[in-house]
Amino acid sequence: MSYQLIKDDKTWAEGIFQKLNIKLKAECARMENIIPYIPRDGRYHDLDTGEGIYWWTNGFWPGLLWQMYQATKHEVYRNQAEAVEKRLDEALAGYEGLHHDVGFMWLHTSVANYRLTGNRESRRRGLHAANLLAGRYNPVGRFIRAWNEDRRGWIIIDTMMNLPLLYWASRETGDPRFLFMAENHADTAMNAIIRPDGSSNHIAILSPDTGECLETPAGQGYAPGSSWSRGQAWAVYGFALSCRYTGRKQYLDTAKKAAHYVIANFAQNNWLPLVDFRSPKEPLKYDATAAVISACGLLEIASQVGEYEEALYAGSAIKILRACEKAFADWDAEKDGVMGKGTAAYHDSSENTEVPIIYGDYFFTEAILRLLGNDFLIW
Ligand code: GLY
Repeated sequence: MSYQLIKDDKTWAEGIFQKLNIKLKAECARMENIIPYIPRDGRYHDLDTGEGIYWWTNGFWPGLLWQMYQATKHEVYRNQAEAVEKRLDEALAGYEGLHHDVGFMWLHTSVANYRLTGNRESRRRGLHAANLLAGRYNPVGRFIRAWNEDRRGWIIIDTMMNLPLLYWASRETGDPRFLFMAENHADTAMNAIIRPDGSSNHIAILSPDTGECLETPAGQGYAPGSSWSRGQAWAVYGFALSCRYTGRKQYLDTAKKAAHYVIANFAQNNWLPLVDFRSPKEPLKYDATAAVISACGLLEIASQVGEYEEALYAGSAIKILRACEKAFADWDAEKDGVMGKGTAAYHDSSENTEVPIIYGDYFFTEAILRLLGNDFLIW
């Protein structure tokens, strides 16, 4: 991104990075290679989701560690990232609990390791995960099915963030099949999930026999037809990434359309993130993860547009990040989790509502490093 931060924003981002380094090192010292999700009583525990080693968020802590390793070269970050990657071999071999989120899980672990260190064992794990994702492709409907059991035709907006595993595998092996599947899925999602106003459904149920769109239920948002903010964020970032890897402008246009919708909604709420942009005013529920993912997506768009456009996207990302940090961040190094007020789903239990969630910290850190020009693209 050629966007020049104004001095005040640069000073702020540098200060946040120093605080992240202090707090994340303190967390590392307590972790003992656990795989965190949501801290309870200020402490992360190992895999307390009920879905254990298969849980979709299990790559984010290693991803955060690789980002910090890349930025600082401190071995403590690398050592823990490598240890968690090895633990995830149980999931890679176990197969049945896995679904489309193998992208989130292995881009942040093995592919990141391979990109930064050239580890061939990590490359093998990444290609194995890419083949699992490719195995979920429906060639008639031209989509990657999201979930298991009888949900054969279900696609969800989140999958856009898993496609970079296929883009990587195509480049890595020279085999265009992965690219074809990713592009075909992105085209299907663009037509079936993104609405004309730039908002996004979470789910579209397609006929697994024909690809016809049958229904768009609510998913993790408030209700059918509402607007789950994390889903909007996946749309902004996911389509921007598809443009980066394919050069196809219609993906960037879709990302921009989703971004304009997101920016308008954030601006209406002091740049703070509601869980759903189309939900009742009360109870007021926040999801900081939607904010920091949106910020990363807006910064990705800013990196792909010309100098007269980038200020809209980068400037909005900075407003979102500064508002969230001021309202929700916890810098107490004795407590696990930086970015508070993350919400797993609109109707989730209170213990998963307005709490720190590991991917909130991942995307917050990625966004800060992007602002400082010191990130590496994990996607
Ligand atoms: N990918 C699932 C979620 O965003 O909650």
